[in-house]
Amino acid sequence: RYEITARQAEAEILPGVRTPIWGYEGTFPGPTIESRRRRTTVVRHRNDLPVPTVVHLHGGRTPPESDGYPTDLVLPARGWRAGHHGMHDPDAVITQGSRDYTFPLEQRAALLWYHDHRMDFTGPAVYRGLAGLHIVRDDEEDALPLPRGDRELPLVITDRSFAADGTFSYPSLDRSLTRVPGVTEAYAAGVLGDVVLVNGAPWPVHEVSATRHRLRVLNASNARRYELALDPPPPAGAAFVQIGSDGGLLVAPREHRTITLAPAERYDVVVDFGAYPVGTEVTVVNLLGAGSTRDVMRFRVARAERDDTAIPPRLSEVEQLARGQAVVTRDFAFTSGRIGNRHGWLIGGRAFEIGHAAARPRLGDVEIWRFVTDLHHPVHLHLVNFQVLSRGGRPPGPLDGGLKDTVDLGPGEAVEVITRFDGYRGRYVFHCHNAEHEDMGMMATFETV
Ligand code: C2O
Ligand code: CU
Ligand code: CU
Repeated sequence: RYEITARQAEAEILPGVRTPIWGYEGTFPGPTIESRRRRTTVVRHRNDLPVPTVVHLHGGRTPPESDGYPTDLVLPARGWRAGHHGMHDPDAVITQGSRDYTFPLEQRAALLWYHDHRMDFTGPAVYRGLAGLHIVRDDEEDALPLPRGDRELPLVITDRSFAADGTFSYPSLDRSLTRVPGVTEAYAAGVLGDVVLVNGAPWPVHEVSATRHRLRVLNASNARRYELALDPPPPAGAAFVQIGSDGGLLVAPREHRTITLAPAERYDVVVDFGAYPVGTEVTVVNLLGAGSTRDVMRFRVARAERDDTAIPPRLSEVEQLARGQAVVTRDFAFTSGRIGNRHGWLIGGRAFEIGHAAARPRLGDVEIWRFVTDLHHPVHLHLVNFQVLSRGGRPPGPLDGGLKDTVDLGPGEAVEVITRFDGYRGRYVFHCHNAEHEDMGMMATFETV
């Protein structure tokens, strides 16, 4: 059981500067929740903000009533009355002041995260700080000799811009209290910041011993993609040994020189600082950035230490779904287009519409979903993890391995994913996780029946 209050607070993000935030428990990122597989976690979310909230556990296999459907609002304790929130959804379950979210967590160990998901306003709410980690652990993972304790480092990467007075500058933040949808329409790429934050701090420096460390990286940015590399690269061996993806451990480790993360993707990697001489400073750089968005953080290899960890060649069992198991293939085009007389983002030619189910998978069925796109769109499905079947007509890429809940589509690229719609009956969403695209329509409902 947890109790978390979303409230306005001030944080010292840049040295000596007070930045107003919206934070779970007043912090940015919010408190990290830790759960064990199959042990139900109940989180009472209170809303002390001046606007409605919706909480979604990203990557969670969650019953629909606790999944944070974008109209299942938690109204502020004061000042808003049910019926005055501007949404017309007869099926929405709206509460005032607080709400209990129940997470059965019938799922493998993985790095999940929770964040705001209110229809039309996810971008500004998450940008102001409404995001936090939720780590699920299980016995299978605990039995492996992976780095743990202070050698396991969750890294939440975000980008923000600051105005001269220290406030976050989101293009339309001042208007986000209003109920006008499409506040961000001028920002087709989504909102990009020019300061990279790791766990809420700009370009931090972290001291490590010369041993293996497990970095559990989440890209919690609204729109920015990162390609992370180590500078200098290790004198021997791969920079990153990937052990897990969005949905937990891979079957076997994979070596990478760089890892690319679209918004909402997670990579679980081991870096062996033992490959570096003591005294080395290793910078995590973003090869897709320039200037102030090039550096992400630094590790200082401070001392030698015994390392009794290992990366086993076999990490986990994952059921591989085969094309032949699928009973349906569905196509979804992620494109830009027009909603009325303004610019928007569409799935299958439609903007998000309450009450319209774009797909009704039968519970237990295996389906192939084929995504095509015009630009970069990180596509995310609630409820299920999927496997990437093909990318651009070819086999999945080196970073597509394992169970995922978010897949990055490159411009003009078609990606096929396969999944079994298991878990719960009810309505869920899938959407682009570029938060501005999501707010401008690039979201749809699917209903498991
Ligand atoms: Cu990370 Cu629908 O969300
Ligand atoms: Cu999600
Ligand atoms: Cu998008």
